[in-house]
Amino acid sequence: MLRKFACLAAVLVTMAGFSFAADDDESPTGKLMEKINNANKPIQKATRNASEYAKGASKIPDSVTEIVKLAKEARDLKEPAEHVKKPLAEYQKSMDEMIKAAEDLSKLVAKAGTKQQAAKEAYNTYYKTCTACHDVFKKDE
Ligand code: HEC
Repeated sequence: MLRKFACLAAVLVTMAGFSFAADDDESPTGKLMEKINNANKPIQKATRNASEYAKGASKIPDSVTEIVKLAKEARDLKEPAEHVKKPLAEYQKSMDEMIKAAEDLSKLVAKAGTKQQAAKEAYNTYYKTCTACHDVFKKDE
């Protein structure tokens, strides 16, 4: 029993070591993106259907504020544009489009009477601005 426990502890320590190493490997943009992704999760959930919207809509503006803050930090990093040999201005424009779409979504859901369907459409428009940038600037390696 004791030995089993020691074994498990060793495995957990090893796993923690690995995830630590992975975090260290992450680029500054990658770290910010992970935070952006975490702040996006409740928005995705809240716009999914009417009952989730009823529960979560009021929290969307706070999540958007968090995303915009992180996006403004990420916007100033030169590495992604350099990596694909594109102008920084193009990268920043793409980030600004995401920020604007996020703010539009936030304003829409803050209005009383906005239905989940309309919020979902605004979410989809906003989410496309994430993938639009990834298509050009997110290269795996
Ligand atoms: C203007 C460009 C841009 C926008 C807009 C953008 N991203 Fe990213 N994203 C990147 C780049 C560049 C990377 C690759 C970073 C790296 O690994 O160095 C990335 C990586 C990621 C990753 C992988 C992170 C990792 O573990 O390395 C996630 C998840 C992600 N983005 C989510 C999002 C979400 C969600 C949105 C929209 C709310 C978004 N991104 C908007 C540029 C952008």
